[in-house]
Amino acid sequence: MCGIVGFTGVQQAAPILLDGLSKLEYRGYDSAGIAVRNGENETEVVKAKGRLKALAEKTDNGATVLGSCGIGHTRWATHGEPSEGNAHPHKSDDGNVVAVHNGIIENYLELKEKLTRKGYVFYSETDTEVAVKLIDYYYKKYEGTPIDAINHAMVRIRGSYALAVMFKDYPEEIYVSRKDSPMILGIEDGESYIASDVPAILKYTRNVYYIGNMELACVRKGEITFYNLDGEEIEKELKTIEWDAEAAEKAGFEHFMMKEIHEQPKVVGDTLNSVLKDGQFDLSSVGLSEEEIKDISQIYIVACGSAYHVGIAAQYVIEDLAKIPVRVELGSEFRYRNPLLDPKGLVIVISQSGETADSLAALRESKEKGVRTMAIVNVVGSSIAREADSVFYTLAGPEIAVATTKAYSTQLMATYILALQFAKVRGEISDETYKNMIAELQTIPDKIAKILEDKERIQWFASKQANAHDVFFVGRGIDYAICMEGSLKMKEISYIHSEAYAAGELKHGTISLIEDDILVVGVLTQPDLYEKTISNMVECRSRGAYLMGLTTFGQYNVEDSTDFAVYIPKIDPHFATSLAVIPLQLLGYYISVAKGLEVDKPRNLAKSVTVE
Ligand code: G6P
Repeated sequence: MCGIVGFTGVQQAAPILLDGLSKLEYRGYDSAGIAVRNGENETEVVKAKGRLKALAEKTDNGATVLGSCGIGHTRWATHGEPSEGNAHPHKSDDGNVVAVHNGIIENYLELKEKLTRKGYVFYSETDTEVAVKLIDYYYKKYEGTPIDAINHAMVRIRGSYALAVMFKDYPEEIYVSRKDSPMILGIEDGESYIASDVPAILKYTRNVYYIGNMELACVRKGEITFYNLDGEEIEKELKTIEWDAEAAEKAGFEHFMMKEIHEQPKVVGDTLNSVLKDGQFDLSSVGLSEEEIKDISQIYIVACGSAYHVGIAAQYVIEDLAKIPVRVELGSEFRYRNPLLDPKGLVIVISQSGETADSLAALRESKEKGVRTMAIVNVVGSSIAREADSVFYTLAGPEIAVATTKAYSTQLMATYILALQFAKVRGEISDETYKNMIAELQTIPDKIAKILEDKERIQWFASKQANAHDVFFVGRGIDYAICMEGSLKMKEISYIHSEAYAAGELKHGTISLIEDDILVVGVLTQPDLYEKTISNMVECRSRGAYLMGLTTFGQYNVEDSTDFAVYIPKIDPHFATSLAVIPLQLLGYYISVAKGLEVDKPRNLAKSVTVE
């Protein structure tokens, strides 16, 4: 959460900082601020509560803030309410050190007490102000370089951080360090850029360095030097980002979410084709050999949010096709329950950002226990991608809307590919089934496009449901996994209370909540379970519920039993999630639009959850 940017070069910094922050607003948006050094070596700090727009208005899009070296921040409050006082950047008492921070400093109270005893005075409730003053304290105490001062602070700080710091004595330089929070550094034409994520700097450069955990850097105009915790210089390789800048723009759509929904046919196809060679999957780029695949005794899928829902759907597919037992766990639970892991197991961590704190911690926990790990990740060079033993990159491109759509769909595709390849290598399916199933996967992009052609019907239905207070999504098996994602899409962007329920569990409590006109969405893509779920839905209708049925075209006539029917094209039921989720994404989206809500930036949420 929180987005940070920095720039040092010849151009005016403030407009570049604001532009970068606008691409990071998905990371936090309750307040924002910038600090820029001007020619007289003064630092101007401007902050505003609320959306970035307020800061842009206050500074005439950065035009009124002069200087060519600066840092910026968009905040998702952790310590202290959203206010101008708590907004970053924060300064030391005499303005010697100014910094922005993404992450959480867990021992900030203890450090604050120490600094208060040394005479520091605090003006905000943030943990960041403590970090700034700690750096200032060590800078003055040891009279060393900024790198020495930050190093000392890093040793004392517990928690996570990506820090960008300016020192009064070093006018055109920005010092950065990171632990468990993302940061990239870019370089182009004698100028340097700092950002939490790629979209913020894509317009300016594709040449980036990935700064490692517990490393520091001195960022000068067009020159970046890296250091380890001992203050020794270290070498880094300059990498090229393949994403193009347009991918991070709205391309004529009203919202990023709608644009990303429409990108699904392409990115799902791209992800499939990335490992498809001559009609077979080749996972050599992923780094899993046939011997290793044969050796897997158990799979543990660990993820958060929608990526966890991918895991739930994948569990059914992998177990059914590859016959490997699968356990799916939330990162936040897995990391603290001291899991018993089979030494021959494979831990698969699924994450769009590759930075989710709980997923990253789960990955580290697994590695510590000596189990092989694999990541399904979208952001190249992210922490999870770097630390896992092997990586399957999804090719969703930059995803900006907080509510995931295209990343989710590409993650699903990655899990289908693994399921099929594991099944084939382990001799669980015939060559013919393998070929047919790959052919089936190849139909998914066109079928998603077909569903999108009919989106107006969902829009119409959504306009009628905009005043709903509760929605229940019910299904069994894979359909239950689809319900979980449909329900999350609904609640996160339209603020309507919704629950996903295994249809068979309704009678164990939830049915008591069914009243007149409550919307119950039944997901009915699994032939063996269709009648069972329909019966549960009809039981809800007998108690007043309004029913929407989502099923496969030509397979059933769901109109007889429901009030509103939505059909998806025919597909092998293993892969139905990829299609059935689309109308549910659209339903959440259109209800949010009908209610006039901020679709791309729902309240209290952030796209990348880099704190616990
Ligand atoms: C946040 C996002 C979700 C996402 C989850 C996990 O809650 O809003 O869309 O599914 O984090 O993020 P990850 O980057 O690990 O997939």
